[in-house]
Amino acid sequence: MRSPSYSSPSLPETATSVAAPEARSAEPRFHQRHVENTETVRKELLEGLARPQAEISPKFLYDELGSSLFTAITLLDEYYPTRCENEIFARHSAEIVGHAGQTRTLIDLGAGDCAKAERLLAHMHPTHYVPIDISVDYLKAAVKRIADHYPELDITALGMDFFNDLTLSDDVHPEQRTFFYPGSSIGNLPPAQAADLLANIRRQCVDGALIIGVDLVKAREILEPAYDDAVGVTAAFNLNMLRHVNQILGSDFDLTQWRHVACFNEARSRMEMHLRARVATTVTWPGGQRRFEKDENIHTEDSYKYRPHAFKAMLARAGFGQIRYWTDAREWFAVFCARA
Ligand code: AVI
Repeated sequence: MRSPSYSSPSLPETATSVAAPEARSAEPRFHQRHVENTETVRKELLEGLARPQAEISPKFLYDELGSSLFTAITLLDEYYPTRCENEIFARHSAEIVGHAGQTRTLIDLGAGDCAKAERLLAHMHPTHYVPIDISVDYLKAAVKRIADHYPELDITALGMDFFNDLTLSDDVHPEQRTFFYPGSSIGNLPPAQAADLLANIRRQCVDGALIIGVDLVKAREILEPAYDDAVGVTAAFNLNMLRHVNQILGSDFDLTQWRHVACFNEARSRMEMHLRARVATTVTWPGGQRRFEKDENIHTEDSYKYRPHAFKAMLARAGFGQIRYWTDAREWFAVFCARA
């Protein structure tokens, strides 16, 4: 699965289809609805860099290299969420799908390689699969694979920024929609925005369900190494953001002058990632500059950790009912299924 993501190239409006095997009832449809505005992106970055406490949105972690580094993170010994979530789906998929009820359309948020949804398809028998990511280009190979395996499945792939707009295309039947949002990416949103996203999903969900992965609060000794691994992959993931920003802004961040910092903010129940200046430095870009003192931070990501009752209450406030959750054996991660 891809995470909340942004890649530098602006994407043209497209509606293309891949070659389908003869047995298919309909060819997959691809709609690119989100078009990145380069000026808006530059403005957002410059505003973040100008703040007294500088910040860069975590969506800039995910250029091509950053996405590959994130895939590598999921393989690290210290990064438990992916393995815990896999354990839950390996043990409880049938029960989770049963709780979701009849599914006509499976809507896969941040689908990426569609691998997690593909595992659900073994237990769920929707007639329509709707993978959503920021760019349909990310979905093409995976959609081809799923179309080959499930020739009867109708597929509409959407390139959308679902954090800002979750309006689905007209071919998505309004009833019996199951939304699927695994990977605990909900934790990368501040709680108020997470609540808004849940409410938006609920509005799009009539007689349907939401299946969502959520990382749980646990000891600092487990959390901090998960975001600061011994191999240094997460450090590279965080530092790569400066390389990505240099490409977008034409800035001259020198990566050797910055180091990765990850810490658990217990009061706010979140892991935080920062980039900390090793030395005093001035970063310049066409039309501007910013001086950073030695040890000054740029805040790059938060990853909120929830207690089960708090996330359950959030789902209820968004209008969901019949809320159940399953955890891995160590109770480090939870998959919630709630009905609408
Ligand atoms: C995508 N997201 C759920 C990851 C997380 O754990 O918050 C992103 C990540 N950041 C550092 N490591 C992984």
